[in-house]
Amino acid sequence: MNVLIVVVTLFVLTAFAAQSGYEGNKVYRLKPTGKKQLEMLANLRNEKNLDFWTPLRRDEHPVDVMVNFKEEKWLTDLLKKNNITYDTLIDDVDSAVLEEHERQIFFPPTKQGRISFIKYHRHEEINAYLSRLAKDYPNLVSIQNIGKSYEGRDLDVIQISTNSSAGKPVIFIDAGIHAREWIAPAVALYAINQLVENKDNANLLEKVDWNILPVLNPDGYEYTHSTLLQRFWRKTRSQGNKCIGADANRNFDFHWAEIGSSSDECDDTYHGKHAFSEIEAIALSNYISQNKNRIKLYLTLHSFGQLILYPWGYTSELPRDNEELLSLGEAVAESIKNVSGTNYIVGSSTNILYAAAGGSDDWAKGVAGVELSYTIELPGGGLLGFDLPTWKILGVAKETWEGLKTFCKHISEKF
Ligand code: ARG
Ligand code: ZN
Repeated sequence: MNVLIVVVTLFVLTAFAAQSGYEGNKVYRLKPTGKKQLEMLANLRNEKNLDFWTPLRRDEHPVDVMVNFKEEKWLTDLLKKNNITYDTLIDDVDSAVLEEHERQIFFPPTKQGRISFIKYHRHEEINAYLSRLAKDYPNLVSIQNIGKSYEGRDLDVIQISTNSSAGKPVIFIDAGIHAREWIAPAVALYAINQLVENKDNANLLEKVDWNILPVLNPDGYEYTHSTLLQRFWRKTRSQGNKCIGADANRNFDFHWAEIGSSSDECDDTYHGKHAFSEIEAIALSNYISQNKNRIKLYLTLHSFGQLILYPWGYTSELPRDNEELLSLGEAVAESIKNVSGTNYIVGSSTNILYAAAGGSDDWAKGVAGVELSYTIELPGGGLLGFDLPTWKILGVAKETWEGLKTFCKHISEKF
């Protein structure tokens, strides 16, 4: 009987959901060489007809760009004119998205309160896991609700501490501020799992407490899961005048809207009506402000790019403690690399990526005074970059976990 249901569902889905909303879209892999070509691409970044899937850095690297068939000729002409070589990476984004969606649907449901690292979990499953841990490990885990998302989903921070009245230094981690970057919440979950359910890691809780918010933008995250058309949604889901959502990572009140964000509601990097227009950004900033004396390390997980970034994102000037930020970042990169060779680049985000103001990392350092503040751009993969195949989740989670341990060592020794 069950088999029959699955077969019928499959049939119905393929019959009626024959489009993903990306019909006619292609992805090109561009191979810019030299400063001039890189600059030329950087200038195209806010071009409405192009969706850049690769973060643009200052060094030479392949750049994946999605374009609709209507703009295809315009783009390829432009590339030819500027002597930028390119390949077609995905000829038909539509079917690639559908294939991924099917893989995701046919995983068996997870038991209430449990998670695994062979699939990407829904927001409800994630919060149910946190609650289950609080119930099963009452002396180690508590949940603090820091508010609700725009659509009313709970923003739950898991606090992991062997002695919550000792006032130990806190490592705060969030993930999922950008909806489509699914690997980020998965890595946060792995850290939670290791800290709470693996006794071998008890030493990581001796000197520090860990506070983790696995999905900061649950509305967007759920939207990318539930809406076939929208696997690549990035923003929140707040209602604007003509379009929905703002880029929560451009919405923080520190040099807000100065550079690298858009004032057009419909753009992916829309900075919002005003600083802190997004309720999720407010909730996070309130929590950090309230705990700013104890939070010694702020980490925000994104994908993709294999980058360890630190402030500033609003200026190319380096922070005065650049040396510590860089050497700690490099130590973390080294411990990740030692697992299976994954290479990370470390540096200030304006200098190795691009200038973009209003990020949570800049705000944590510049306003809340959390001096050690980092954005980790995890590895990408799959056909589409943001859709790292599920069988790769565990590998990325494990290697990143080694990096997190190195962060922990530094904080334990320093404070
Ligand atoms: N890819 C991230 C973003 O665009 C990088 C953020 C780096 N930090 C910053 N403050 N610009 O949001
Ligand atoms: Zn991101």
